[in-house]
Amino acid sequence: MTTFAFTVNGKPANVEADADTPLLWVIREHLKLTGTKFGCGAGLCGACTVHVDGKAVRSCQTQMSEVTGKKITTIEGLSHNSSHPLQKAWVAEQVPQCGYCQSGQIMQAASLLAKTKSPTREQIVEHMNGNICRCGTYPRIVRAIERASKEG
Ligand code: FES
Ligand code: FES
Repeated sequence: MTTFAFTVNGKPANVEADADTPLLWVIREHLKLTGTKFGCGAGLCGACTVHVDGKAVRSCQTQMSEVTGKKITTIEGLSHNSSHPLQKAWVAEQVPQCGYCQSGQIMQAASLLAKTKSPTREQIVEHMNGNICRCGTYPRIVRAIERASKEG
């Protein structure tokens, strides 16, 4: 066991874990931030997407040894009061069905808008490719990202 120091949603965190413990496990079980979901555990669905130093990563495939000193942002830290343009657009477009994949979808989308303010539809589809929604909310996801890019 090693103690890993990093930042989560702007606050310092120190967690004792094995070096190969997945970041997803630490986020959910140690830090009790359960907005980030376990889907496949194999890097194939995107339900576990968080930001590491602003980049969207699959937290189920990110080991603790890779996050020392890094800034982690989870869905809980995207905004203080659900005021991120994507969160507002998600409500306006009524995107979720069961909701399970949605925090991963939003975190994946947020990393796109952080670097590309007005993405084309093609850029959105390409960037979101790999975040699976078994409820098939894809058209609403694209509409919400387009709305957020206009209103953000
Ligand atoms: S749970 Fe991480 S990609 Fe599916
Ligand atoms: S809303 Fe159900 S899996 Fe996406």
